[in-house]
Amino acid sequence: MKVFLQTYGCQMNKLDTALVTSALKKAGFSLTESEKGADVALINTCSVRDHAEQRVLSHLGHLKHIKKSKPNMVVGVIGCMAQRLGAELLEDRTIDIVCGPAQIPQITELVTKALQEKKRTLVITEKIRQKPAEDEALEKFESVFDSDDKQIPGQAFVRVMRGCNNFCTYCIVPYVRGPEVSRPPAAIIEQAKRLAGKGVKLVTLLGQMVNAYKYNTCGRTYCLADLLYMVSEIEGIEWIRFVTSYPAEEFYDQILKAMADLPKVCNYLHMPAQSGSDKILKAMNRNYTVSKYLELLDRARAMVPGIAIAGDFMVGFPGETEEDFGRTVNLVQKARYKNCFIFKYSARPGTAADKRLQDDVSEEVKKRRNIKLLAVQEKISDELSKEFIGKKVKVLVEGLSKKSGVNPCGEKSYPPQGRRTSPPLGPLRLRSETGEISLKANPQLVGRTAEDWIVVFNGPVGLAGEFAKVKITRTSPLTLFGEMT
Ligand code: 5AD
Ligand code: SF4
Repeated sequence: MKVFLQTYGCQMNKLDTALVTSALKKAGFSLTESEKGADVALINTCSVRDHAEQRVLSHLGHLKHIKKSKPNMVVGVIGCMAQRLGAELLEDRTIDIVCGPAQIPQITELVTKALQEKKRTLVITEKIRQKPAEDEALEKFESVFDSDDKQIPGQAFVRVMRGCNNFCTYCIVPYVRGPEVSRPPAAIIEQAKRLAGKGVKLVTLLGQMVNAYKYNTCGRTYCLADLLYMVSEIEGIEWIRFVTSYPAEEFYDQILKAMADLPKVCNYLHMPAQSGSDKILKAMNRNYTVSKYLELLDRARAMVPGIAIAGDFMVGFPGETEEDFGRTVNLVQKARYKNCFIFKYSARPGTAADKRLQDDVSEEVKKRRNIKLLAVQEKISDELSKEFIGKKVKVLVEGLSKKSGVNPCGEKSYPPQGRRTSPPLGPLRLRSETGEISLKANPQLVGRTAEDWIVVFNGPVGLAGEFAKVKITRTSPLTLFGEMT
């Protein structure tokens, strides 16, 4: 039986897809990249913005079309949209399975039942803000089915916590991923060791507020810094990253100290500010001010020289005036991010902002502010990237670059609205994403530095998953181009 799997959304979702893939493979299913040739199509979904949901719905429309000529094909919707919309999704006869993020350990069983008994099922968490009953099953699933070869060679994600308790007023995550739960340090370390044994060199520790990681056991409290020290001891692991950080005092200095002390911990911090206006930050229920945020950045730069900082911003939050937006532009100018992801506010049903505030900034204004902020950041990224010209960098190679000659994300401008610069490639493939078979001895490869700069250069395909030294010869705002040394 062949399964087609598609993922929308964040790294948490990519990790869930990897776990699901691994579980299905162990149960005897094989993967296919063609929906038409698939017996089962599973879509792992995202609800963070309306746009993400619209993309999923249009994909489902496409599957509906395919299903007309293949009525036995099983279609499953998993992840955040499944949890958010539940039974509503099952009203669509195209869909056979609706499975929330906490129920993915049941996926093999659900798919098998759908294939054999034509059973359509809905499994989601009924009371999403209550202490998760599924925790034990998730923990087991997580530790049995880790890394899968669908991921980038030599790299893996390790979840350190699930859910979120922060309730930023715009955010759907607490309502689809449930309350915050930190995983036991022993389970995380075990998993990282197993991954190292499989050849993983870079582990990325994942959490919605990864710096809030906290676990009490044996009379002491473990924080993210403790995890960094422990993972650093694992032989085979050479780089460690963690995302995403929330601007907060708790554990901050300890985490930065670990970064400064430990050569394996990449000097990279992704710490979204969301807005440069204190009024808007308050309305977003972000618990910091702009000056506090800048102070945190200063401290990071003082404790970890050379640290690369990435941010997220949202434009057009309810009540955002031109003056507020001007403050955001100011913050981006002061922060000097390596890159930042910029999104137009999208009202999410059930969130506090949606219930209490009017989505009063027009689409046109959101678009204009988005373009303006992208341009401000692009100039900064361009300046920072140019500093690399003539320098040698160490790169972990991901695989073939997406397109020859342009940056690996295939984007001419700075990340367009709503798009993240996700790793450009999945596993090493001889075929590039554009469908060309690479016959060249030294095709164009892509990798990243420890600080997450994207590097494009020519080299042997077999380097995917390995480190390379590259001398940078030219740059674009998003990408460093160079030659292997
Ligand atoms: N509208 C627009 N962007 C959002 N984000 C989260 N919720 C929303 C929303 N309702 C953005 C934030 C967050 C990133 C993952 O997505 O910037 O950091
Ligand atoms: Fe990830 Fe949030 Fe999207 Fe869920 S809603 S996939 S947690 S970004």
